[in-house]
Amino acid sequence: MMFVRTSICRVISKTSAFSNTLRNIQSYSAVMSKFELPDRFKDNDKSVWVEYIQLALKYKPLNLGQGFPDFHAPSNVTKALSAIASSDNPLLQQYTRGFGHPRLTNAIAKLYSKLLKRNLDPNNEVLITVGAYEALYTALQGHTNPGDEWIIIEPFYDCYVPMIRIIGGIPRFIPLKPKNTNGTLSSVDWTFDKKELEKLFNEKTKGIVINTPNNPIGKVYTLDELQFIADLAKKWNTLVVSDEVYEWIVYEPNQHIRIATLPGMFERTITIGSAGKTFSVTGWKIGWAYGPANLLHNLQIVHQNVVYTCSTPIQEAVALGFEEEMERFEHPECYFFSLAKELEPKRDYMGKFLSDVGMLPTIPEGGYFMIADWTPLEKKVKLEEETDANKDYRFTKWMTKNVGVQGIPVSAFYSNEHKHLAEDFVRYCFIKKDENLQKAANILMKWKSQQ
Ligand SMILES: Cc1ncc(COP(=O)(O)O)c(C=O)c1O
Repeated sequence: MMFVRTSICRVISKTSAFSNTLRNIQSYSAVMSKFELPDRFKDNDKSVWVEYIQLALKYKPLNLGQGFPDFHAPSNVTKALSAIASSDNPLLQQYTRGFGHPRLTNAIAKLYSKLLKRNLDPNNEVLITVGAYEALYTALQGHTNPGDEWIIIEPFYDCYVPMIRIIGGIPRFIPLKPKNTNGTLSSVDWTFDKKELEKLFNEKTKGIVINTPNNPIGKVYTLDELQFIADLAKKWNTLVVSDEVYEWIVYEPNQHIRIATLPGMFERTITIGSAGKTFSVTGWKIGWAYGPANLLHNLQIVHQNVVYTCSTPIQEAVALGFEEEMERFEHPECYFFSLAKELEPKRDYMGKFLSDVGMLPTIPEGGYFMIADWTPLEKKVKLEEETDANKDYRFTKWMTKNVGVQGIPVSAFYSNEHKHLAEDFVRYCFIKKDENLQKAANILMKWKSQQ
C-alpha cells in the first residue's frame, strides 16, 4: 500500500513538473511574444541583399551582384579625407549642422543651381543624409499619411516599398516592359504604358517615385516620358520623388534630364543624389535631397528625429570633391564625365560576353548594371536543385554555387504581383576591374563549352 502511494505521488509530481515546465514554456513564449517584430515590419524582413551577401560569403563566387567598384575611388577625395583626419581644425572631428555641413550644402546648392538654372538656398532647399537611402526614407516618411498612395515604376530600388508601407502608405505598381524580346535590347526599349500610368493616378495619389538612370535596367528616361509624368503630377497635384543617384553615369548620346527642370516641376519635386555613386565611394554613405523649402521641411523633421546629423569629416571631404569637380566642370577629366567614359568599354565588354555565352542582354543607357535574359541557357542549369518560388532566384543561386559567378535576380525589383514578369532576367554589375570582368567571361565561356 505504501509502495502504491509513493508511486502515485511520483507520477503526480512528475506530471506536475511536466505541466509546470509546459506552463513555463507557454508563459515564456507569451512573455517573449511581446518582443516580436512589430506588425508594420512584417513581410519586409526578407532582403535580397542580405541573402545574396551571405551566399557570396559562403560560396565565394566572382561577385557581379552588388553595385560597387572593386577598384580605388578617385584619389582626390580619399586624400582629402585623410588630410581632414589630421587637420589643424579640431571642429572637423565634431558634430556639424544637423541639416548638412555648411561647406557641403553650399557646394551642392552651387552645383545644382547651375544645373537647374535657378538659385537653390543651401540652408532650406538642400538636406544632407546618410546616403541616398536616408534621403528616400525622409522623403517618403515625411510625405506619407496612412492611406496615401505612391506610384512606383518597376523595376524599382527595393527599399521604396517598405519605406512606404511601414507608415501605412499604399504602393501602386506599373512595370516597364520591353517592346520586343528578340536579340540584344537597349534599355530604351523598356517603356511604361502611358494609359496604364494615367489610370493609376487618383485623388489619393501622394506622389510618384521615378529612378533615372534606372537600377537595374539602366533606362534613361526621355524628355517625352518625363513630360508625360510631369503633366500627370501637375494634373493630380502630386509629388515626384526623383531618385537620380546615377545622374553622372550616362552613356553617349543619351542625356540625363532632371524632371525638376521641366516647367512647373521644381515646386513638386524632391530630387535625390548620392556621394557614393557620384564619387565611387559607396561606403561613405552620404546622400542628399534637394527641392523647394516647403517640401524639404518635412524631410528635415524626419531627419532631425532619426539621425540628426551626418559624419562631419566625410561631408567635408565630399564638399572638397564637389568644389574640385566644379572648378574643372568643362574639362574631360572632371569625374562627373570621366567615370561614364571609363565604364563604357566595360559595359560593351559585358554585353558581348553575355551574348557570346548565349544570354540576351539589355544594353543600358546609364548606370552600371546590365540585365540579361538567361533563359536560353535554361537547359544547362539544374533549377530543380533550388527551392525558391521564382525562377530567377533559382538560376542565380545555382550559378553562384555551381558555376561561380553571382548575379542578382531581377524579380527582387518587382512587386509580388509582378515578379513573374522579371523571372527571365538576371542583373550583373560592371563597375569592376577589367581583369575581373575577364574572369567572369572566362568562367561563363568555359561553362558554356562543357557537355
Ligand atoms: C537606385 C538607387 N537608389 C538609392 C540607392 C542608395 O544609395 P546610397 O548608397 O547613397 O544610400 C541605390 C544604391 O545602390 C540605388 O541603386
